[in-house]
Amino acid sequence: MKRILVTGALGQIGSELTDALRDKYGKDNVVASDLQEPCAETKAAGPCEIIDVLDKNALDAVVKHYKVDTIYHLGAILSAVGEKNPQLAYQVNMNGLFNVLEVAREQKLERVLVPSSIAAFGPDSPKNNTPNDTIQRPTSMYGVTKVAGELLGNYYVKRFGVDVRGVRYPGIISYKTLPGGGTTDYAIDIFYEALKNKKYTSFLGPDSRLPMMFMSDAIKSIMDLAEAPFESLKHHADYNVAAVSFTPQELADAIKKRIPEFEISYEPDYRQEIADSWPASLDDSCAREEWGWSHEYGLEEMVDIMLEKIQEKLS
Ligand SMILES: NC(=O)c1ccc[n+]([C@@H]2O[C@H](COP(=O)([O-])OP(=O)(O)OC[C@H]3O[C@@H](n4cnc5c(N)ncnc54)[C@H](O)[C@@H]3O)[C@@H](O)[C@H]2O)c1
Repeated sequence: MKRILVTGALGQIGSELTDALRDKYGKDNVVASDLQEPCAETKAAGPCEIIDVLDKNALDAVVKHYKVDTIYHLGAILSAVGEKNPQLAYQVNMNGLFNVLEVAREQKLERVLVPSSIAAFGPDSPKNNTPNDTIQRPTSMYGVTKVAGELLGNYYVKRFGVDVRGVRYPGIISYKTLPGGGTTDYAIDIFYEALKNKKYTSFLGPDSRLPMMFMSDAIKSIMDLAEAPFESLKHHADYNVAAVSFTPQELADAIKKRIPEFEISYEPDYRQEIADSWPASLDDSCAREEWGWSHEYGLEEMVDIMLEKIQEKLS
């Protein structure tokens, strides 16, 4: 039986992942945790704890109390927030991960899932169809913590036999929980503004092509990886997973097909430099070959769902 702890369960991905894990493994077997009470409204849905991942004792106690065997570690500081406060990004993304891995090692947990990011690549990496295994020299603090986190995860597999697994998420598109301060957030903001004001000013330029993925695929990828037989994995904390790649202009065009009055304008800010250092598209053949990854949602389906669901939220 699985007993799961989710850190960062209030976040954009953690909130939906917690629900999906509860559906699959039973609500009582998934403990949601975050810096604040993660379940004020949904306590009935399952156990909840306040955990700062920088507090190893708190992590230890919750893992013991609930007999946790698997941690999905989603607590993190994202790219744009991390560039504003690199010291905090370092603390949370490095020391928080270290605490999670140490608890997993000491308490002999079955598995740790920890997302990495396309931010683990940098301007020296091949920009198009970026291979799984290539040069990684990120230039943002977030990216530095993500590539270091991958290496640390792989080290724990090799050195201590802790089963650490991770996908490099592209920008994740969703409508339930607002994003937490990443460079791809424009691709969510744009839907709210298109529906509310019929116009949007993008903080990335028209041609900034980035890999993106709909939330359902993001959740499927990490849950599928968690279930893969260990023997089939040649990588561990560092799998490229891809779905679609588009530019702000292409996304705006897709929205305009459905809302003809919609207009986009561009005022690139500090996030442009971060975006420019990232891949435009990913080669995810390792994930497809080693654990059968495949995505379901393309741009058109995603735009239809986002407009429909955000319209429902706004009305
Ligand atoms: N959302 C994306 O587009 C995206 C893309 C690539 C990778 N990722 C990765 O996925 C993971 C989850 O991202 P997200 O989008 O849900 O982020 P988010 O910012 O929406 O949520 C992160 C959560 O972590 C919590 N947190 C922050 N500091 C903490 C601490 N010290 N202790 C415990 N919790 C803390 C926050 O309160 C927040 O609820 C992260 O590792 C992120 O790097 C996300």
